[in-house]
Amino acid sequence: MKFFVDTAEIDAIAELNDLGMVDGVTTNPSLIMKSGRDILEVTKEICDLVDGPVSAEVVATKAEDMIAEGRKLAGIADNIAVKVPLTWDGLKACKVLSSEGNMVNVTLCFSANQALLAAKVGATFISPFIGRLDDIDIDGMDLIADIRLIYDNYGYDTQILAASIRTVNHVTESARIGADVITAPPGVIRKLAEHPLTDNGLAVFMADWAKTGQKIL
Ligand code: G3P
Repeated sequence: MKFFVDTAEIDAIAELNDLGMVDGVTTNPSLIMKSGRDILEVTKEICDLVDGPVSAEVVATKAEDMIAEGRKLAGIADNIAVKVPLTWDGLKACKVLSSEGNMVNVTLCFSANQALLAAKVGATFISPFIGRLDDIDIDGMDLIADIRLIYDNYGYDTQILAASIRTVNHVTESARIGADVITAPPGVIRKLAEHPLTDNGLAVFMADWAKTGQKIL
């Protein structure tokens, strides 16, 4: 499973990238706002840092304007995936941008039917938002499973990019279902390494080691 990092914070991306954990990066207008950076500058820096796809989102709402913004964003680097919202205009923009050879990430997906449409217009990635469905008491994992089933039924090669991941369980479940990619904040990725029994076991080892009076170095 590929790991994308859901942030525009360069330091956090760089740390995970050094560990070989970054297969790509996703950003959105909210994450650009949080970074306090200029979208074109920070996106270029991210693209220079990582080899994989870097999603940069359009902010226009009409198809022709999305297409113009998407072309500009795609011009930043070869590894840009233009992100468009799952609206009718967004689907039109996806069709044009993907036909021109750009990677396109269709975002804000909340239903299997929306995902089906994104595949039909040539999306490279579909981004179902798990956490935001959980927020309204709908199990976001059911959507990932439905999309997996439907895409496999018909052989669509649009990649399922599980997004709005808030917990480590979202990652486990996405992997069990077979999502192609997860995008998660750096904090969630770091938490994947944690387990209370690891902490307890290490504390016991350290206490016993101290009793030996030995040193390795
Ligand atoms: O990848 C989408 C993500 O940035 C949205 O996450 O937690 O704001 O729902 P969240």
